[in-house]
Amino acid sequence: MAWDTTVTLGMGDVVSNESLANLLREERRFAPPADLAANANVTAEAYERAKADRLGFWAEQARRLTWAAEPSETLDWSNPPFAKWFADGKLNVAYNCVDRHVENGLGDRVAIHFEGEPGDTRSLTYAELQREVSRAANALVELGVRTGDRVAIYMPMIPETVIAMLACARIGAPHSVVFGGFSADALATRIEDADARVVITADGGYRRGKPSALKPAVDEALTRPGTDKVRHVLVVRRTGQEVAWAEGRDVWWHELVDRQPDQHTPEAFDAEHPLFILYTSGTTGKPKGILHTTGGYLTQIAYTHQAVFDLKPESDVYWCTADVGWVTGHSYIVYGPLANGATEVLYEGTPDTPHQGRWWEIVQKYGVTILYTAPTAIRACMKWGDDIPAKFDLSSLRVLGSVGEPINPEAWIWYRKHIGADRTPVVDTWWQTETGGIMISPLPGVTETKPGSAQVPLPGISATVVDDDANEVPNGSGGYLVLTEPWPSMLRTIWGDDQRYLDTYWSRFEGRYFAGDGAKKDDDGDIWLLGRVDDVMLVSGHNISTTEVESALVSHPKVAEAAVVGATDPQTTQAICAFVILRGGAAEDDGLVEELRAHVAKQLGPIAKPKRILPVAELPKTRSGKIMRRLLRDVAENRALGDVTTLTDSSVMELIQSKLPTAA
Ligand code: WT7
Repeated sequence: MAWDTTVTLGMGDVVSNESLANLLREERRFAPPADLAANANVTAEAYERAKADRLGFWAEQARRLTWAAEPSETLDWSNPPFAKWFADGKLNVAYNCVDRHVENGLGDRVAIHFEGEPGDTRSLTYAELQREVSRAANALVELGVRTGDRVAIYMPMIPETVIAMLACARIGAPHSVVFGGFSADALATRIEDADARVVITADGGYRRGKPSALKPAVDEALTRPGTDKVRHVLVVRRTGQEVAWAEGRDVWWHELVDRQPDQHTPEAFDAEHPLFILYTSGTTGKPKGILHTTGGYLTQIAYTHQAVFDLKPESDVYWCTADVGWVTGHSYIVYGPLANGATEVLYEGTPDTPHQGRWWEIVQKYGVTILYTAPTAIRACMKWGDDIPAKFDLSSLRVLGSVGEPINPEAWIWYRKHIGADRTPVVDTWWQTETGGIMISPLPGVTETKPGSAQVPLPGISATVVDDDANEVPNGSGGYLVLTEPWPSMLRTIWGDDQRYLDTYWSRFEGRYFAGDGAKKDDDGDIWLLGRVDDVMLVSGHNISTTEVESALVSHPKVAEAAVVGATDPQTTQAICAFVILRGGAAEDDGLVEELRAHVAKQLGPIAKPKRILPVAELPKTRSGKIMRRLLRDVAENRALGDVTTLTDSSVMELIQSKLPTAA
């Protein structure tokens, strides 16, 4: 890939030579604090050890777990890219996350400090968690859930969500957690694809100071074709809202779970037994069900959580602000922290309810020592002002993490300075739903950090940057991020679609995993992530595919055609901007745009609602019929148009631009 020409990286960002150069001109450096380095869980030696014997290194990490049958083989890569890790080992994930800590005398340690948005709180010790998870596991068995059956989970951020996931893991029923902000249609598609038999939900959760209903979306989803195999809906009472009730199908959690015995004997499952399916947006077609399995996943999640955050479970209070509906929540709220016996905070609501200092109040209240959040949240806090965190005592913090998108150097510096008192290391962690766990990140006691860079693959991880022809680029050059060796928490396939797994990740570069991200190596060989190379938009930390939004628009009777782009937006990273061609006769009145926005929100969820919709007469297309989103992005970002020579009709762009109201 040549960097002397402008390269479109699909983040809505056209990364020019100039902006790349700007990024790499970042020269601020931060050495690890001496006390942290002196007592760090992981030291520089780990890189050497893992390099000398990668599989030996992972076999050693697997010993963090308690196995019912120790694995004799580390990796079976005889049928690439279908990996088997620790294949003859057997273990139970819930036992590893809960019971063994109680057996080790840590039953009284708090596992979860729950903070509800309205201010209600609840702390669960490991002993209490063991009883709750056992009851929930017994309840699922009573509902007829058998090992291997899929369970959909559509919940707010409350302890029962974690309990439900662990209960599924305990009985070997893979869960499919669907983010509570998704619509009934999105939920239905995921229930159908995973062929779920039970749905666990709540009446609602608290969001921005109000109860926000969930159960009606489940009821609606279950009227859709393909969801008829769902036998039961298990409903947690959280908000006390009125709910419709399907007799025989719907069951209250407090009626069923609370009367169960609080003991349950965990069964050991094969290391490659499916643990969960989690859907991620793709550029084409339906969402991909990313499949993760048991032994390798838990090994890497436990290792990375302990290494990257320097977790000391006896003294740290850890808080990851993600939603459990995303992979960050799966790996770094549920499985990693609990496998490591950590004490963590679980917060239900938004950062600015009831005031913009809520997060910092929580840090102060629980003495949070490790905070893991996303750049979009950091930017929101920056916007609200330095004086807000300054009102709280944040001196307990000792490690700060970032995940989800490239973090702008200025946001990184703000985070370190205003949240971390210019003292705490910031670890920028690169990974994906597909990788299961953190892959590229500084280590807080080892790495001299650079604002804006994820820097180095973790010990045991092999990553590099290649050009179009799969050649590794030299330092100082950019290209595509690839992973060159299998890793324990890698996805095993796309649920029900091995071919799509091969096509999506393993066909672009022979024998290498293509992550879909642009990246650059600086002069030290450190990695800087540059965003998605395909057409996935990033809106407030959520990946949304352009195709999904286009499909939603086109499903409206008044829309003939739609093209969607992500336009750079200072608040949400990207804002969804849609160009639509109306069907003959459809009037282009003020109400229409609102109607279309509401339609997308209903189909895909409020997060996918376009910020702008522009009715146009034509769309710019190449001769092969591909919409040139690059040009639309130029329009949406009020830039001079790039090359229009490959268009069938170059006057189209003039037409579109003439329609444009003043720059938004
Ligand atoms: C995509 C994966 C990993 C959990 C949250 C997102 C982007 C993620 C970083 C980072 C630059 C990042 C990439 C990646 N991304 N972390 N530290 N620096 N980009 O999971 O929804 O599967 O999205 O998020 O583009 O491919 P996901």
